[in-house]
Amino acid sequence: MRAVLAAEPGGAPGRLGAIDTAELPAGDLVVKVTYSSLNYKDGLAVTGRGKIARIFPLVCGIDLAGVVESSGSPEFSPGDEVIVTGWGLGEERHGGYGELARVESAWAVRLPAELSSFEAMAIGTAGLTAMLCVLALERHGLEPGGELPVAVTGAAGGVGSVAVALLSRAGYKVAAVSGRPEQEGYLRRLGASEILPRAALEEEEPRPLGRRRFAGAVDVAGGPILASLLRETDYGGCVAACGLVGSAELETTVHPFILRAVDLAGVESVRCPTPLRQLAWERLARDLPHSVLEEMTVSAGLEEVPGLAAEIVAGRVRGRVVVAVDR
Ligand SMILES: NC(=O)c1ccc[n+]([C@@H]2O[C@H](COP(=O)([O-])OP(=O)(O)OC[C@H]3O[C@@H](n4cnc5c(N)ncnc54)[C@H](OP(=O)(O)O)[C@@H]3O)[C@@H](O)[C@H]2O)c1
Repeated sequence: MRAVLAAEPGGAPGRLGAIDTAELPAGDLVVKVTYSSLNYKDGLAVTGRGKIARIFPLVCGIDLAGVVESSGSPEFSPGDEVIVTGWGLGEERHGGYGELARVESAWAVRLPAELSSFEAMAIGTAGLTAMLCVLALERHGLEPGGELPVAVTGAAGGVGSVAVALLSRAGYKVAAVSGRPEQEGYLRRLGASEILPRAALEEEEPRPLGRRRFAGAVDVAGGPILASLLRETDYGGCVAACGLVGSAELETTVHPFILRAVDLAGVESVRCPTPLRQLAWERLARDLPHSVLEEMTVSAGLEEVPGLAAEIVAGRVRGRVVVAVDR
């Protein structure tokens, strides 16, 4: 079958190639993939810029949506529409950038009735992660209707776009933090109430605590931006950290934690337990209007993925890209 393969260290670059379907890994569910999506991690795997691929050749694509072709599990029957994201797909086993995938049925989530498989991939891992961040903020006691906004970093990217839309629809004021001033109109259409330039969170000589600017935050950046968010979150607030596009480092003091009772919540989507995943997909299906998904999504064929992978790693992709595997 045709498939987008990861760059190999010192070898072939990421490319549209082919693998024998006999090489698909073990699993009790065979899925005919209809759509996949492009995430930052896929960008790293296809370009070889990050150590994502663990086997070679590797069919990339950490997400897939499709139709069950055969099932060894009583939970699923041929014809069922499913979503599978994470669980090592597109990292340590073949993923969604090919027409067929074999996975474990325990990883599959039934496609919610409100969503098409295209829309599920418009959400994808990025959107699931945004929802997990919102659920984390809720668990830590954040409530809509307050004076201060919730900050979302990397706002014009995949996780950021979905987080802005979810938070604004839940009734929060949203401060969208973006390095792309030209995306102001887009971010306001998603529901941002204010736009902050990325530089506003990149102070050169930070104090241990800053002005209380945010009720909480969803952060994809890490590094000095995450440290700024912690310093500038209000008493009892929470910062949900899920990414490292800025840096994997975090230099902070304990002041935000011990003087302002700020929580730092870690968010992980790859091995997120199925019950939480199902809850997140139910909320996404309920809370994200179709029109908002349309606003943030473009589609591409498999042959466009290598070029788009370089674009997403460079921070130039807006919102979400759905990958049609038959194109
Ligand atoms: N924990 C998990 O399970 C999980 C799941 C999904 C994603 N992630 C992580 O979340 C991050 C975002 O993923 P994504 O798929 O949303 O990627 P994406 O679509 O590329 O979005 C990232 C956005 O971050 C901003 N950005 C780029 N370079 C930056 C920098 N140096 N400093 C600060 N901001 C920068 C850009 O938005 P602006 O131009 O608007 O600033 C960019 O569009 C990645 O680190 C990814 O690995 C983690």
